[in-house]
Amino acid sequence: MSAIQPPGQRVWWKQPIDKVEIIWIGMAFTWCLIMFFMMPYWHVYGKQNLSSETYRVTPALYQKAAEEMVAKFTVRTETDEKIPVVKPPAGSDVYLIARLWAWWPILELEQGKTYRLHLTSMDYQHGFSLQPENINIQVLPGYEHVVTIAPNRAGTYAILCNEFCGIGHHKMVSKLYVK
Ligand code: CUA
Repeated sequence: MSAIQPPGQRVWWKQPIDKVEIIWIGMAFTWCLIMFFMMPYWHVYGKQNLSSETYRVTPALYQKAAEEMVAKFTVRTETDEKIPVVKPPAGSDVYLIARLWAWWPILELEQGKTYRLHLTSMDYQHGFSLQPENINIQVLPGYEHVVTIAPNRAGTYAILCNEFCGIGHHKMVSKLYVK
């Protein structure tokens, strides 16, 4: 049999299976199972993908809630684009917008306090990645993800987009302050 000519025996699946094939299938299947069970395992022990509540939302409604928060709790602006830095009260609902190609606004949270962090996208799929903690949350348009967070270490964190979203993807970086 060659790769150019049709096989001599056309009904190939009726031929006996080779031992090497069995071993390969066994290895591949075992690896599939390991990868499958890694998903729930890592959700619990990896602490990278937080459990979130998810709601349907329209960009306009979400934007309104975010703008209300920004109007009330802005403490200063940063960068040439004058991005507001918002310091919401502990325990409150905190809104972060993802869009091409920025996060808005910049959040300043208090260490040891609990917040309800809301996330959505105004356009396409983005990825919320908090570094160096390596916490990752998918951000999808039309859906509002809510995660309860309690920052336990002070510092300046980076928020990166880890879902390729076009030509400005690499510029979609922001900050999160914990004081
Ligand atoms: Cu947003 Cu990549």
